[in-house]
Amino acid sequence: MKSTIERNQIDEVLRLLSTALATVKLYSIDHEQVQLQIPRIHKCLNVLFKQQQELTFMVVKKELLFDGTPIEQSLHSERIARSLYPRNISFFGFCQGIGLDEIQLFIEIASGNQEVHLLDSSAPHINYGEVDVKDDPDRPLAITRFADLNHEEISSIESLYNKISNKDNFEINQVAAIISGFVSAFQQECNPLLALVPLKTEDEYTFSHSINVAILNIAQAKSLGLSADLLHDIGLAGLLHDAGKIFVDKEIIRQPGQLTDEEWREMKKHPMRGAQYLMGQEGVPQLAILTAFEHHMRYDMQGYPTPPPGWKLNICSQMTMVSDTFDALRTRRTYKEPWDFPQICGLMLKLAGKQLNPHLTLNFLKLLKDSGDEIIDNGLELSAQAPSRSEEELSKRHVCE
Ligand SMILES: [Fe+2]
Ligand SMILES: [Fe+2]
Repeated sequence: MKSTIERNQIDEVLRLLSTALATVKLYSIDHEQVQLQIPRIHKCLNVLFKQQQELTFMVVKKELLFDGTPIEQSLHSERIARSLYPRNISFFGFCQGIGLDEIQLFIEIASGNQEVHLLDSSAPHINYGEVDVKDDPDRPLAITRFADLNHEEISSIESLYNKISNKDNFEINQVAAIISGFVSAFQQECNPLLALVPLKTEDEYTFSHSINVAILNIAQAKSLGLSADLLHDIGLAGLLHDAGKIFVDKEIIRQPGQLTDEEWREMKKHPMRGAQYLMGQEGVPQLAILTAFEHHMRYDMQGYPTPPPGWKLNICSQMTMVSDTFDALRTRRTYKEPWDFPQICGLMLKLAGKQLNPHLTLNFLKLLKDSGDEIIDNGLELSAQAPSRSEEELSKRHVCE
């Protein structure tokens, strides 16, 4: 199992890597100090491989995440992240069997002395992903293709959603096929944000919201350069994150005003109930169960349910919080008007570092900014006329349920 890895051992690998990196930048790969670190890193990795065969790190600007949870920032983690980020490496993984020469090549690449693609031919035990370059203005958007697929997939999701609404067992293969459709549509280079589903009736909210969170999660994961497998599970976790709402009284969900304390208590049970429901469904990935459970815990851990001390949020839950907040704000509900793009950006930036992971929020807003005009052109209920509101007002229903 993955979670058994001792963080101080990971810190030690990062310290050794960072020391080697700093020396290479000043001198060269042949320097005695670097050559001393390489076997140490190798030894340390081999100890870790006894617990886990692959060690995967994500790079988000100047931060590193290990196995999906943020590593406490240090000089070393920051140096490694800052070295890899400009090389467009958004994640890397060391696998059991790695050789000294592969570690050396990795250090050279991180220091900017070698080309990243050399890893493909010369480092079979190092996996990596590059940030997808999605800013090419000449690249055509395959909107029609996505729209076609979207239509077909939506009817399939509708039947799935009915099963979930009735608390029936559902076929995980059916959900997986839906998400595979989304993921492959994304590979066609179309703009995923154009696929967001507008809300027709209040009763459809959880349904269309779930699809949108799945789409936005996949868009985020793709922009971070994550592998297709992870993209799939992160999308699926988005689709199922609010499954627990089927256990909340519909009247509470439809209620137009602020919720009473009692109603809030009921609403706050949906992460736990969702996780329990998904646990009872065969084949649902653990990531989706964890995301259903954690998606309201907030980045500063002040949300619900109250996490045990030392609890670390999964990266997928944090992505889901970002997608969830965006979709909640942009949608018209009985108790609020839809927000326009600048208002959403403003609030999400305010929430970054408190409710939302700041790095993921910035990445997400950049993603939206590139497509913002198209979103507005597409008429996704964004309104420039929304009345002003205080953060306090928001903290209750808009982004917390
Ligand atoms: Fe929720
Ligand atoms: Fe949600």
